[in-house]
Amino acid sequence: MLWFGLIAVVFLPVKFVFCKIMSKRILVTSALPYANGPIHLGHLAGAYLPADLYVRYKRLTGQEVLFICGSDEHGVPITIAADKEGVSPQVIVDRYHTMNKKVFEEFGISFDYFGRTSSAIHREVSQEIFLNLHKKGIFRQKRDQQFFDAGANMFLADRYIKGTCPVCGYAEAYGDQCEKCGTSLSPSELINPVSTLSGEPPELRETEHWYIPLGDFQDKISAWLDTRTGWKPNVMGQCKSWLNAGLGDRAVTRDLSWGVPVPLEDAAGKVLYVWFDAPIGYISATKEWAAQTGNPEDWKLYWMDEETDLIHFIGKDNIVFHCIMFPATLMAHGDYVLPVNVPANEFLNLEGRKLSTSRGWAVWLHEYLQDFQSDHLRYALGATMPETKDSDFSWKDFQARVNNELADIFGNFIFRTLSFTTNYFDGHIPGLVNPSAEDQAMLDEIAQTRDQVAGLYDTFHFREALAQTMNLARSGNRYFTSMEPWHSRKSNMEKCGNTLHVCLQVAGALSVLFEPVLPSACKKLRSDLGINGLVFWSMAEADLMKSGSSINAGEILFRKLDDELIDKQIKKLLMTDQAAAAQTETPAYPALAPSIDFSSFAGLDIRAGRILKAAPVKGSKKLLDLKVDIGVEIRRIISGIAGYHKAEDVVGQKVCVVANLMPKKIMGIESNGMILMAESADKVLHFVSTDAEPGSTVT
Ligand code: MF3
Ligand code: ZN
Repeated sequence: MLWFGLIAVVFLPVKFVFCKIMSKRILVTSALPYANGPIHLGHLAGAYLPADLYVRYKRLTGQEVLFICGSDEHGVPITIAADKEGVSPQVIVDRYHTMNKKVFEEFGISFDYFGRTSSAIHREVSQEIFLNLHKKGIFRQKRDQQFFDAGANMFLADRYIKGTCPVCGYAEAYGDQCEKCGTSLSPSELINPVSTLSGEPPELRETEHWYIPLGDFQDKISAWLDTRTGWKPNVMGQCKSWLNAGLGDRAVTRDLSWGVPVPLEDAAGKVLYVWFDAPIGYISATKEWAAQTGNPEDWKLYWMDEETDLIHFIGKDNIVFHCIMFPATLMAHGDYVLPVNVPANEFLNLEGRKLSTSRGWAVWLHEYLQDFQSDHLRYALGATMPETKDSDFSWKDFQARVNNELADIFGNFIFRTLSFTTNYFDGHIPGLVNPSAEDQAMLDEIAQTRDQVAGLYDTFHFREALAQTMNLARSGNRYFTSMEPWHSRKSNMEKCGNTLHVCLQVAGALSVLFEPVLPSACKKLRSDLGINGLVFWSMAEADLMKSGSSINAGEILFRKLDDELIDKQIKKLLMTDQAAAAQTETPAYPALAPSIDFSSFAGLDIRAGRILKAAPVKGSKKLLDLKVDIGVEIRRIISGIAGYHKAEDVVGQKVCVVANLMPKKIMGIESNGMILMAESADKVLHFVSTDAEPGSTVT
């Protein structure tokens, strides 16, 4: 990695004039994922893919970059997972550390080192930092009352306690955070707290802890943040609102048996708070990386040289920890660099709903890989990443990105270019002779796109970077079509040769410019194009491909994804979700309605029916336009079930219909009746069906 950067600088100095003045070196980190479960799409889109795009791009520019991550193996999320399975926390973290490390590799997330916070070095580094602050008298040591579960004989830290969020009223907020509104909490702020171990209200017991008085750092942090430039407004905004609210004391220790032991004599049974030790994992992992390279002191280049640019990639729920708390620790310590940027992403929703791992409303990466390739998801996610606001992933959109963009634009351009060169130029790159204005314009667009996309990567605008890269392929296709080489090859071989020469330059450039997002496809493409050896961003120029050299017409780069495969994913998602819904422990059903007399009920004419036809209603996401056989006649009914059932799936469905409702106009269409539906606690609508023939009365 180090020599990689060096070669670039030595051999290609002139080529770098287009990029910004480079910093000495960059240290990129991605949030350490908790080793309590597998990685899903939301994780990838939040903290890993954007970091990888950035790192791969920076490496291509010859910049010295180190990319660090690892497993977050402490804290209550881990012990809760262990309690649930009745195994030790070590079993859990070993399992998921191994699994997650592997899946990141399979997705081409190019960490230089993937550590884990249960390592001996991590314990040493965290304890050293804690002691350093302790000796300086930074911490406040306080005794106070904390929640205690007498049955389990333990204090209830963080997620061991649940209650109602004082901010948004969500009933299932945890002692450290409300997952609904994102507010970070302390257990004493919860309304009606209960132990998650027993479900009972906890008692209070006195205990002693160490607190970092963030208030003492308020001015320093505020002044430091004011010197940061190029931060996303949402990130800076969150920091400012924390500062405006005023920073208080934050406990950095917990009464738990799993974690880094507090390195003091009078602290038996106490460990460092996971959010104190986890970010230190970035430092300890860098130390381990250095030891592994044989230059154990090299970690200091990244953490102790002011000219290093430290960049943390995280999801928005981690902002306060990376922009206020960890910087406060580092400031108090004094030896370490602070981040130049924290380009946090917002959240990714799935098929219009918030991701929920407990409900199975998630796409697990290891499962994705059973059916698809990593590059496809890298592209689709990169193109819809929640960069400035929450965004949505849907399987249909994924399919469209792959089929309409990767296959139809990029893949098709490459295929036409390579097969034409193979068929009519014997697989050799034709020379450029007296280029036309169109040829020149297309060639000029290469370096223009390269520099524009570079600017977008440099400023963390990854969606736009991918869009502009795809635009070069789009231009290539347009150029190919308008030059009509299939005609010129019969009438004007020189013109035809120029066209293919230009297209091959564009293809070569795309094999470099798409590299950050499509590493596997680009590797294959470069091998087909005969581009060997190290690749640099600067190579994406009009003369990358040498006239006369040979190319291969390989297989097509991207196969289209058919509907069946995509529908399978949607079905799978709905099925796990329904299974999870069935298991919901405390369903929130509405209270019973007041009593009615029998005649009110008897006035209803409910009939068995069968859906004959179904179509979406234009302009509505909720409504389906149904033809329903109710035995005595066929009814047209507009029903608000489209959010739960697709038109093609409901044909043939047996239903119960309220048949004597007055007709009602819904979106301009007259609806004659109502389909009975059962609404489950999770607000999903299920059919109420009967085996009786259409027309049968329901009484
Ligand atoms: N494990 C945390 C999460 O998934 C992130 C830890 S980031 C670190 O939300 F900085 F603490 F490492
Ligand atoms: Zn809340």
